[in-house]
Amino acid sequence: MTNRTVTLTDPQSEKTLELPVVAGSEGDPTIDITRLNPELGYFTYDPGYGTTANCKSDITFIDGASGILRYRGYPIEQLAERSSFMEITFLLLYGELPTASQLRDFQRDITYHTMVHEKVNSFISGFHYDAHPMAILSGVIASMAGFYQQNLDVNNPEHRELAAKRLIAKMPTVAAAAYRHYMGWPSAYPRNSLNYAENFLHMMFSVPAEAYEINPIAAKALDMLLILHADHEQNASTSTVRLVGSTGANPYACVAAGIAALWGPAHGGANEAVLRMLHQIGDVSRVGEFIKRAKDKNDPFRLMGFGHRVYKNFDPRATITRKACHEVLADLGQNDPLLDLAMKLEKIALEDDYFVQRKLYPNVDFYSGIIYKALGIPTTMFTPMFAIGRTVGWVAQWMEQSASPHRIGRPRQIYTGHGERDYIEIDKRD
Ligand code: ACO
Repeated sequence: MTNRTVTLTDPQSEKTLELPVVAGSEGDPTIDITRLNPELGYFTYDPGYGTTANCKSDITFIDGASGILRYRGYPIEQLAERSSFMEITFLLLYGELPTASQLRDFQRDITYHTMVHEKVNSFISGFHYDAHPMAILSGVIASMAGFYQQNLDVNNPEHRELAAKRLIAKMPTVAAAAYRHYMGWPSAYPRNSLNYAENFLHMMFSVPAEAYEINPIAAKALDMLLILHADHEQNASTSTVRLVGSTGANPYACVAAGIAALWGPAHGGANEAVLRMLHQIGDVSRVGEFIKRAKDKNDPFRLMGFGHRVYKNFDPRATITRKACHEVLADLGQNDPLLDLAMKLEKIALEDDYFVQRKLYPNVDFYSGIIYKALGIPTTMFTPMFAIGRTVGWVAQWMEQSASPHRIGRPRQIYTGHGERDYIEIDKRD
C-alpha cells in the first residue's frame, strides 16, 4: 500500500471516495476498488480482465512494454541459458535458487514420484486410440484425486507440497503414455537414472525391441523449452487454476482445469496451430495471401503465434526460441523448409502496418513448434509439452494462494436480459 489515493466523485450522488493505490515491488500502480461497490454502489466492467489484478504474487514479473520476464527476480534470458528445468522448478516453488544439496534432494524427490499407479495406465487404455493427448491429460490428471485421496487436505502444507511434487513428476509420464496409446506401443516406465527431460524422451520414444539412445542436443533443447514455459504470472490457465483453487477444490482438479484452459488455440493450443498454419500456407509464395486473410475482419483466420495480451513490444521468450530454433536445427543437421517459411512470414508481418499499429509480434509459440518437430515430437503433443512445463507455474501459484488468506473467485456481470415477467403455461404460448 502507498500513501497515494485516487479520488472518485460520483456526480449523481455527489459522494466522493478515496481509493487507495497499491504498489507492488515493480509494475504499474493499481487502484484498490474493493470499497467501490459497498460505498458507491458501482461495479467495474473489464471484459477479459485487461486491467484487473486478481491477486498479489511474489513469483513472476512481466513488463509487457519492455519485453521483460523474470522468475523470482531472475531474467528469463539468464535462466534459459544457464539454469536447468529442475532448478527453475525449485526456484518457482520455494522462492530461491537451490544449493547443490537442495537440488540433489529435490531432484530425487521428483524422480521417485514419476511412476503412476498401474490403474492409471488402464484408464488411459480406455480412451479411443486417436483421442487428443490433451483430452487424456486433463481426464487422467483429474482422476488422480481418486488415487491419492489420503493427501488431499488443501489446508495442510505437507499435503500441498506432496501433491505439487506428484503433479510435476507424473505429468510427463501421463503425457508420454497418451502418445504411446495412440502409437499402440507398450508402456515405457520412468528411469530414475535419467534427468527430467531425458526421462521424458525415453518414455516417449523407447521401444522394447532395441536400445534407445537419448540425444543430448534434444534433451538440452527440451529442458530449455520447459524453462521458458514454466510460468507466466496470471495467464488464462494459471488464473483458471487459481479460480478453481479458490473454492478449496483439490490440486488435481485445479490442474486438470488449467490443462483444459491451456488447450485453446488462443493460449497453449497456439503451438500446434502454428505448425498447422505453416503447413496450410505451404510455400513462401503464399505468405501474402495469408497475411491478407489475417487482416480481414470477416475472415476468422488469425496469424497463429502472433500477438500477446501483455507483450506489446516483443515476447522475450520468442527471441530465445527464434535463436534456439536455428541452433537446434543446425546441431541436429536438419534443414526444415517450415523455418524459412516462418521467417518470411515473420518478416512480412513485422513490416505490415496492420501488425505494427496493433503491436503484434511473434510470441513464444511461433518458433517452439519447429523445435519440437525437429526433436521428433508429433504435432498433437505440442500443447502437452507446454502443459508439462506450465505445471510448475500452476502448482507454484496454487501453493502461494493456498498458503495465504483468499476469497472465492467470483466476478460480477452487467445483466442485459429481460426484466421480470410472469410464467406462461405451455398451452398458452404462441
Ligand atoms: N492475427 C491477426 N490479428 C490479430 C492477431 C493475430 N494473431 N492477434 C490480435 N489481432 C488483432 C485483433 O483482431 C485486434 O484487432 P482490432 O483492434 O482491429 O479489433 C487487435 O489485434 C487486438 O487483439 P485482441 O484480440 O484484442 O488482443 P488480446 O490481447 O485479446 O488477444 C491473443 C491476445 C489471444 C494472444 C491474440 O493476439 C491471438 O489470438 N493470437 C493468436 C493466437 C496465439 O498465438 N496465442 C498464443 C498466445 S501466447 C501463449 O499463450 C503462450
